[in-house]
Amino acid sequence: MLSIRANSKLCSPRQASQLGRVVSPLIQTPIHGHSAGWRIASIYQTQHSQPRSFSTSSVRPLRDFFPSKETELIRRTPPAWPHHGYTEQEMLEVQPAHREPKTIGDWVAWKLVRLCRWGMDLATGLESDQQVDMKHPTTATKTSKPLTEGQWLVRFIFLESIAGVPGMVAGMLRHLRSLRRLKRDNGWIETLLEESYNERMHLLTFMKMCEPGPFMKFMILGAQGVFFNAMFFSYLISPRICHRFVGYLEEEAVHTYTRCIREIDEGKLPKWTDEGFLVPEMAVTYWHMSEGKRTMRDLVLYIRADEAVHRGVNHTLGNLNQKEDPNPFVSDYKTGHEGQKPNAALKSTGYERDEVIGH
Ligand SMILES: [Fe+2]
Ligand SMILES: [Fe+2]
Repeated sequence: MLSIRANSKLCSPRQASQLGRVVSPLIQTPIHGHSAGWRIASIYQTQHSQPRSFSTSSVRPLRDFFPSKETELIRRTPPAWPHHGYTEQEMLEVQPAHREPKTIGDWVAWKLVRLCRWGMDLATGLESDQQVDMKHPTTATKTSKPLTEGQWLVRFIFLESIAGVPGMVAGMLRHLRSLRRLKRDNGWIETLLEESYNERMHLLTFMKMCEPGPFMKFMILGAQGVFFNAMFFSYLISPRICHRFVGYLEEEAVHTYTRCIREIDEGKLPKWTDEGFLVPEMAVTYWHMSEGKRTMRDLVLYIRADEAVHRGVNHTLGNLNQKEDPNPFVSDYKTGHEGQKPNAALKSTGYERDEVIGH
């Protein structure tokens, strides 16, 4: 295992950038007399059995956030929602896309997501030449300067810590509504909860690769506090707009991972294309990653396909009658209409109501 750690105290900005980590003004802002540390310490698992450090100063060992716990009786705890898997073809067919806003609600959702992306780019210190063509922010992936591995990890972790919230809020609120109105839910709750579970698996996978500093943890805490409450009240008022918002957020996620794959393919992320780099064991288990298909690129392909599913699901749910319509993604179709069963990954802009429910 090779351990790399970036901290404005541990190495100079130049050294840190050489190691492929984030050096933004935010990292170096002192808070209460010590380095604020939007610090990322990245684990690059290699064939070496002994830990080594690239840092020029002493480094405490990287903490495992969730080491597997040995108990007297339990052998292992498999995922409650096993991953359904994808073929390679399905994963390669995923493309960044954008659903044009059609209603005022769509427009509000889209602008909110744009605002979030702007804030994210600002907070993570993205340079102007690291930006894509902002006329096509969710589909253009070409830039003149790549992100470093450290910048990617900061982006992934922040994005995933946010992305796991809406499915849980929506699932919880629909669950409570079903209880208090004494009505069935028609299959939405499980899909929504599974989505938040899947997002948390993305987050936990990246957490096996790095350790955020205190400033980043604080940002995640603050963002969750704001986002959870905003989503809770918004979902009570307009679940349709909330699903549209999540659909747009997932467009961003597909875009982010597509750009990352592009930079891996262009050889711009050498730490992740290094032959010795191994993806975390939990990712291999969760996605059933086959032997010989366990590179960072393979992992990002799986995660991007998950995001494409969330994108298609939420854009579709945003088109349905929230109170009456069944969840088309888990429904059996009547004889002669089996072919109309939707596949969320293939429908980047979501299905219109007529296509999956009928008139
Ligand atoms: Fe995700
Ligand atoms: Fe997602």
